[in-house]
Amino acid sequence: MSYAHLLLTKESGYAVVQFNRPEVLNAINIQLMTELVDALEMLDKDDEVRCIVLTGNEKAFAAGADIKEMADASAMEMLQRDQFARWDRIRKIKKPIIAAVSGFALGGGCELMMTCDIVIASESAKIGQPEINLGVIPGAGGTQRLTRAVGKAKAMEMVLTGRMIGAQEALQCGLINKVVPVEYYLQEAKDLAKEIAGKSPVAVKIAKESILKAFDTTIEGGLEFERKNFYLLFSSEDQKEGMKAFVEKRKAEWKGR
Ligand code: CAA
Repeated sequence: MSYAHLLLTKESGYAVVQFNRPEVLNAINIQLMTELVDALEMLDKDDEVRCIVLTGNEKAFAAGADIKEMADASAMEMLQRDQFARWDRIRKIKKPIIAAVSGFALGGGCELMMTCDIVIASESAKIGQPEINLGVIPGAGGTQRLTRAVGKAKAMEMVLTGRMIGAQEALQCGLINKVVPVEYYLQEAKDLAKEIAGKSPVAVKIAKESILKAFDTTIEGGLEFERKNFYLLFSSEDQKEGMKAFVEKRKAEWKGR
């Protein structure tokens, strides 16, 4: 499969999806987003792929939605394009997505990063929601996901000032998982993808779904959801194999069912 704005490579157990519009710092236009959703949905169905790494390049993960593409649009055009609806499909991807972030992750780039499940950043990462400087607000989940991730005070500061924060500050406020020197961020994300790819695929998917449930339910509803999923896994071959392998003191061989 070849894409105009993405590079896709499959490695053992995982895939790497790389934005490829370096001339505009990977600004996210409609075509890039269409291709991204298509690639992720395709990888979600591919049994050889158990985890996905999403990345840009050293200078930019993505500098936001493509400003030139929307600058002259009317509200009705924006409504009819409904371009951010595509983003909801990323939320439905069942396999874990690891963002490997270096350089700018701004606006829609930060929002995409926050849609991922785990974030590994380089020391040079600059993360922010600068839409206020364009006379708008985040439109792809920024006000909601950022607030849930870092709390009201920090989200207010970032969205109202448009200021970027560095990798260390992002780590301190719980927005990302780990900061590494720039030469290692992609390898670190790949190593993590490989580690997750070595787990039971069915348990990984259900674990991801259960954690995400915490964002849109009460604690009672979430605990009930978790418990049912826990019981459900006892119908999988992987649960039988995983527990048998523990008892027999050997490595489990996952079937993914
Ligand atoms: N859209 C379109 N083009 C962009 C872009 C964007 N979001 N970000 C950068 N570019 C383009 C620039 O126009 C420039 O192209 P030209 O060479 O043709 O002029 C090229 O990328 C390189 O950018 P700069 O010359 O500006 O590079 P810099 O290193 O001086 O500055 C930057 C880097 C601070 C990231 C700056 O490019 C910038 O501020 N970009 C815009 C960031 C932004 O506002 N993002 C939010 C977009 S709106 C949004 O995302 C809405 C949403 O919620 C989904």
